[in-house]
Amino acid sequence: MAQETITLLQNKRILLAVTGSIAAYKAVDLASKLTQAGAAVDVIMTEAAERFVTPLTFQAVTGRPVYNNLWQTDSSGGLPTHIAHVGLAEGASLLVVAPATANTMAKLAHGLADDLLSVTALAARCPVVVAPAMDGGMYDHPATQANLALLRGQGAIIIEPETGRFASGLAGKGRLPETSTLIGHIRLALAKTGTLAGKQVVVTAGGTREPLDPVRFITNRSSGKQGYALAQAALDAGAAVTLITASDLPIPVGVNGIPVASAGEMQQAVLEHITKADALLMAAAVADFRPKDRADQKIKKKDDSDEAPVITLARTPDILMSVKEQRAAQGIPRVVVGFAAESEHLLTHARAKLERKGLDFLIANDITAADAGFEVDTNRVVILGADGSQTPLALATKTRIAEAIIELVASALI
Ligand code: C5P
Repeated sequence: MAQETITLLQNKRILLAVTGSIAAYKAVDLASKLTQAGAAVDVIMTEAAERFVTPLTFQAVTGRPVYNNLWQTDSSGGLPTHIAHVGLAEGASLLVVAPATANTMAKLAHGLADDLLSVTALAARCPVVVAPAMDGGMYDHPATQANLALLRGQGAIIIEPETGRFASGLAGKGRLPETSTLIGHIRLALAKTGTLAGKQVVVTAGGTREPLDPVRFITNRSSGKQGYALAQAALDAGAAVTLITASDLPIPVGVNGIPVASAGEMQQAVLEHITKADALLMAAAVADFRPKDRADQKIKKKDDSDEAPVITLARTPDILMSVKEQRAAQGIPRVVVGFAAESEHLLTHARAKLERKGLDFLIANDITAADAGFEVDTNRVVILGADGSQTPLALATKTRIAEAIIELVASALI
């Protein structure tokens, strides 16, 4: 499947400054993925970067000119003015320095201005993201750390390098993180002015696992994809997001992930985290029943008999009902969204659920369709509002469905 575009990156011009580290080759992938996701990427290369990768490589993946000369003018019309360093800086949404060498960080921290990147960095008024990449000894050096502190003090966002093996064969802290991590930080930097800036959102995701013994559990077909898409959409809108998850999907960069297994654990985590939240989105498929007793040891089969144990089930707590109680006492969170997966009488059941659980919105899902609901990447839902409204959303990716829901939550929080 082609890479899905990222709404937050549409109509954004990103300056990607590439400096002379062996990790420069990873910046090609970053430039390519940002372009495919919908951003206009203007690459600035230092002289040292060109020792590792050619401008042509970046030109090919971004479809835009590459800038590498302080004295160059640009008559392509792609920039707001023909003076490259001013035109690059003017109207840019973000300056990303990846990989950033010790030398470039020193120059940026002290305002030196002797090449296109350092001059453009002074001219730019957009947020700056710096991703250091160098040998571990160089990264740990007090001079590098002092320059990093200066950059932080000037408002730059520093992406922590990772620990691992270097091209030299040595190991330490100083590796450029993978593209997906870099894009996660870029999204965070761009989201700061979103419609949920300053708001706290709690999302639950995945199917809970109700233990039978230390190795077995009862669960359901929920993948957690819709919940994760909601967490990412809330993050892209600028919220601080806590994701209480029973799914094994990787936690998005910038999300406070709280792994849980059973409905009981999820309930405890939800009731604790909503005390500071503006909104709760209960996308998790919480099991309705759990084995009544959990055996301390693995339940053994008998070799000399066909006998099988009988599992007695008990009800799990209804998390949204306990949220309703806590909310009645504290008035927090202001917005609560539930989900209903139904295989018949979708809207009647969903409306009754919205009322019983005291929700502001209920997202009703017909799980009988092959292209919606559990496991797949697409969904088709009807959003019911406490005010009686009923908004159908046509088949779309779970990302787009999540964005529409988050937009509703944001307008309800105004
Ligand atoms: O009652 P039903 O399970 O169909 O309701 C679905 C909604 O209620 C979902 O938002 C789900 O996360 C939530 N739920 C819950 N506690 C349960 C079961 C479901 O909060 N025990």
